[in-house]
This record gives sequence, C-alpha cells and structure tokens, in this order.
Amino acid sequence: MKNKKELRIGLIGGGLMGRTHSNAYNRIANFFPELEYRPLLQTVCSRREDKARAFAAQWGYASFETDWKAVIDRKDIDAVDICAPNDTHAEIALAAAAAGKMILCEKPLARTLAEAQMMTDAVEKAGVANTVWYNYRRIPAVTLAKQIVDSGKLGRIFHYRANFLQDWTINADLPQGGDALWRLDLAAAGSGVTGDLLAHCVDTAMWINDAITDVSATTETFVTERVHQATGKKQKVGIDDACIFSCHFKNGSLGVFEATRYARGHKALYTFEINGEHASIRWDLHDMNRLEYFDHADDSQVRGWRSIHVTDGDQPYMHRWWIPGTSIGYEHSFVHQAADFLKSLETGEPCAPTFRDALQTQKVCEAVIASANSRSWQDTGAEPLTGSPGAR
Ligand SMILES: NC(=O)c1ccc[n+]([C@@H]2O[C@H](COP(=O)([O-])OP(=O)(O)OC[C@H]3O[C@@H](n4cnc5c(N)ncnc54)[C@H](O)[C@@H]3O)[C@@H](O)[C@H]2O)c1
Repeated sequence: MKNKKELRIGLIGGGLMGRTHSNAYNRIANFFPELEYRPLLQTVCSRREDKARAFAAQWGYASFETDWKAVIDRKDIDAVDICAPNDTHAEIALAAAAAGKMILCEKPLARTLAEAQMMTDAVEKAGVANTVWYNYRRIPAVTLAKQIVDSGKLGRIFHYRANFLQDWTINADLPQGGDALWRLDLAAAGSGVTGDLLAHCVDTAMWINDAITDVSATTETFVTERVHQATGKKQKVGIDDACIFSCHFKNGSLGVFEATRYARGHKALYTFEINGEHASIRWDLHDMNRLEYFDHADDSQVRGWRSIHVTDGDQPYMHRWWIPGTSIGYEHSFVHQAADFLKSLETGEPCAPTFRDALQTQKVCEAVIASANSRSWQDTGAEPLTGSPGAR
C-alpha cells in the first residue's frame, strides 16, 4: 500500500449493488497492484443505523452514516458511489457534484431524461470524474465482442438483437414499493424493464455497434394493480412489465430488443447476437465466459459456430485472474469497472461509460417509452458513445 494515493469512497445504499461495489473495491489491491490509486472504504450510508453499522463491519468501512447528505458534507470523502434506488440518483449526484466529489453512479443514470441531463450538466460543470456502472461491458467475453467488431472482422453489420428475460414478478400478489420492491413502483424506478433491463442492453449495443437513431416500441403491464407498501392499498401499476422495440442504428444496421419479467423459467437471460457480412457473434449471460463466433471464411467442411472459452491471458482482463481454462464470474465485471475508474484517474481520460454516455442510453429509453405510448416511431437524438481502454 506504500506510496499509493488514496481514493476515499463514500458508498450510499447497502443493498445488492452496495455489496458488489464493496467487494470490487476490496479486490483491487490484490488483482490490480500496479494502479496508482487505492480505494479506501471510508464510509457507507444506509438509512437504518443497525444496517449501516453491520454493513460497515462486514465489508470493512471505517465508519457509517444514516443520511446521504452527511456523506456529501464530509471533507474526507473523495468519491461518492450511488447504489441507492433510481429516485435518489439525481438529488445525490447534483449535491455531490456541487461539493466537488467524483461520482460513480449506478444505472440507469436517472428516472427521466430531464434528470439525466441535469446530472450530466452538473458533473461537466464541476469538472469531476464520473462513471456509470453499466458493468456488463466489462465481462471479458463482452469486451472481446467489442474488440472483434472494432477489428472489422464482421464487416458491415446488418443485425443486432438482444434479450433480457426474467420471471420474478409474475405473482400478482407481490406488492409494489418499499425496500425490496421499489422496482415495481414507477415513482421510485422511473420505468419498469426499460430502465432496469433494456438500459443494459442499449448501453452494450451502442458501445459495440453504434448509436440507436430511432425506435418503435410496445410495452405491456400484465398486472395492473398491486398493493403499495407505503399505503397498504391497491394502486395502479405504472411500470412496463415487458417491452419490445425495433430500431435503426446510425451505421445502417437493424436492431430488435426484448425485456420482460414474465418469461417463466428465465432469471437473468441477457443475450445478444450480432450478424455481419463476414461473421456473427453471440453471447449469453448464463454462460458468460463463452463467446460464440461464426466466420464465413472458414473452410466450408468445418465451418460452424465456435464456442470460445474466454479465459486465456491474452483475452480482456483475464491475465489478472487465475490460469487459462478457469472461469470468472459476475462480480468480476464490477472489479474491472472499479479498476478502470482508478486507472482513469491516473491517465486523466474519462472512464466510460461516463454520465454523458449514460445520457445517450437514457435518450433511447425515453424514446422507447414515448414510442410505446404514442404507437409511433420516435427519434432518439442519441450520439455515438465515447470509450477508454481502462486497466484491462
Ligand atoms: N449494474 C447492475 O447490473 C445493477 C444491478 C442491480 C441494480 N442496479 C442499480 O443499482 C441501484 C440499487 O439497486 P439494488 O439492486 O442494489 O437495490 P437494493 O434494493 O438491493 O438496495 C438499495 C439500497 O439503498 C438503500 N436506500 C434507499 N434509499 C436510500 C437513501 N435515501 N439513502 C441511503 N440509502 C438508501 C436501501 O435501504 C437499500 O439498502 C439501482 O439504481 C439499480 O437500478 C444495477
């Protein structure tokens, strides 16, 4: 740890993402020893004192807070990590930027495009380092897909299709709102599967392929009333339970996307497939260390889909871990993003996806909902994303 600069983290929200990020910070010193910066787990904020205290003890934070404003006010915090539900992102980020703190924010950047625009303006005006945790980019097989497409091996891209399928909200007795079920409450989440699941697919797609220019979408809410945990009464459900959209990319390719929480049997089936003139690629989160690749240039007698086990030392990030042939998991995508953020502080380059990149995804999500509501094609106004090599 000697001669390392410390990045003192204030993490807000001790749920699922609070745990993945804390784990990531704790792995950096071991697996990215050359980085100039080391994360220091300075404080964690959770609203209940008992939970905050227990989280701090379990994950190694030096202190805890029960009000996120106290984290922003602390002089011994360099970076604020926003891991609370979507309705908190804008308020926390605006306050953190005004206080000159760096910000790592969970996705989706915000509930609405208007909030996301304010947040982007705020970090850019303040000149603070920022990133949004679209972590799937940093699964080695997904990063490899990006490298293969960038190399031109696929030639002209014709098709991009992605799914994100779950089945956890089929039960009509499930309430909405509150700690565990804020995702079903429009006021807290901003949207349903569009912001929660499709936002990931859109970020990956625009990063690997190109900007999505226009969309035609349909959404469905299968369970239209649920008891709200705040009132104890049955209330209208405002989120989209399922969403399907087709789109054009700036490079002329066609896209089709689907997300749902009503696909019985699927827990988190995120898949994408890209079809180019010369070759195709497909990937599946349930088998995340593999990338499938079809190359039309192969000898026709042995031509077929190859299943590449992305575990070799010359494949993205893998030399950081064990030996060729041994797999890594979901949690490593967060370690990679934390490392890339720290690396960006060394190089002075932004750590993609930045707030401005996530704003482009927000534009697409907003256009998707507008298209479904109006039953018409909508232009997104999304610009191509930026990118940085990071610490891989
Ligand atoms: N990158 C990913 O793949 C991914 C996966 C899951 C969630 N997310 C995003 O991460 C964020 C959090 O999701 P989660 O699954 O961890 O949710 P969660 O419900 O598991 O945890 C949220 C935590 O925030 C706390 N919280 C709520 N309001 C707060 C406040 N005002 N101040 C401090 N703490 C507060 C809750 O008590 C809870 O501990 C969301 O924006 C979500 O969209 C991203």
